[in-house]
Amino acid sequence: MYTEMIKISEDHNSKAQLIEALQPAIDVLKSGGTVVIPTETVYGLAADALSENAVGKIYEAKGRPSDNPLIIHISDRTMLDTLVVGVSEIAEKLMEAFWPGPLTLIFNKRKAVPLKTTGGLNTVAVRMPSHEVARLLIEVSRVPIAAPSANLSGKPSPTEPKHVIEDMMGRVDCIISAGVSEVGLESTVVDITGEVPMILRPGAITREMIVEVVGTCELDPALGERSENQVARAPGMKYRHYAPEANVSVLTGDTMRVIERMLGAIESHIKEKKKLACLLFEEDYTVLKHLLLSKKNNLDFEEGLKNYVVFFIEGSKRNPEIFAKQLFRDLRKCDETACVDVLVHGIEEIGIGDAIMNRLKKSAEGRVEKL
Ligand code: TXA
Ligand code: MG
Repeated sequence: MYTEMIKISEDHNSKAQLIEALQPAIDVLKSGGTVVIPTETVYGLAADALSENAVGKIYEAKGRPSDNPLIIHISDRTMLDTLVVGVSEIAEKLMEAFWPGPLTLIFNKRKAVPLKTTGGLNTVAVRMPSHEVARLLIEVSRVPIAAPSANLSGKPSPTEPKHVIEDMMGRVDCIISAGVSEVGLESTVVDITGEVPMILRPGAITREMIVEVVGTCELDPALGERSENQVARAPGMKYRHYAPEANVSVLTGDTMRVIERMLGAIESHIKEKKKLACLLFEEDYTVLKHLLLSKKNNLDFEEGLKNYVVFFIEGSKRNPEIFAKQLFRDLRKCDETACVDVLVHGIEEIGIGDAIMNRLKKSAEGRVEKL
């Protein structure tokens, strides 16, 4: 399949220029084709949400099970009313506070929304992205667009044009390349069809932020630690996700013990000539580097460090948004560098830490070591 590339740059500074550049993508959307679009969270694989035929092409391009429902992206409030019924007061408050932005809300759907889009459910997930390009595409085409993350099923969501090209070139009609995604993790998904809003997938709009606006908010119990027997209510959460080829382990607990655990793994991997990646905050990297330095008078060790160990520095602990933004990129890089094992220093599950740990635990398939 031929894939048309559109590159958005700083030169497209007026709305008219942007629309002109986006015209081929607008035409594709209107005629039922597929377009990879930038959003503030991750890149999305978009098609007309109201056309079964178009939505079918999304599942096909992703290699995605069709019981996994899609999020519909809209550009304004009037579009919402064509898709859903029974907009509650809680919904109004959340939309007012967080739209446009990385918050997806689950509503009861109207008939116009095909069951193919909702994976057979009578509810529908809707969000209004804040990314200018995404909003303009929807606004000008007047097409509400269904868009899952634009990765092949099972791979980390794409946050850079490079990732999208790797996964989707030749599988979609058009790719819009527009730099690095601002947030880096997918939107928060909140079910508001019940009495109390419930987070089905944590994201950059945190539980704390939602409580501040509507006074209350629960986490889907299936997201918790002792949840092996529970089935996640967001169907997408049950699939293996975000996983690089390597074995990922998440290390939590005492920071010094985590650093020592990494140090031990570095030594054993060098000895066994196996490649290891370590993801950690810059503060902890400084400490680890010091400990490594004391071993550096050994030439073999120094050589081994160069050949078998890759470090990914995830910014400062004081600014976990950087970790969120880089996480998927770095998991993909682990594969590129052919690491056998990946050790990640976990983060406290508050604020955006909740979303980071959620994605980490999935990529680790349960391998969490409390030290
Ligand atoms: O940030 C995002 O949300 C990105 C960008 C492209 O907008 N999109 C995204 O879509 O992450 P996707 O398809 O990869 O994830 C959608 C999640 C899945 O976990 C899915 O099961 C859940 O939302 N979901 C969708 N509709 C639902 C519904 N009606 N009820 C419960 N969960 C739903
Ligand atoms: Mg996804």
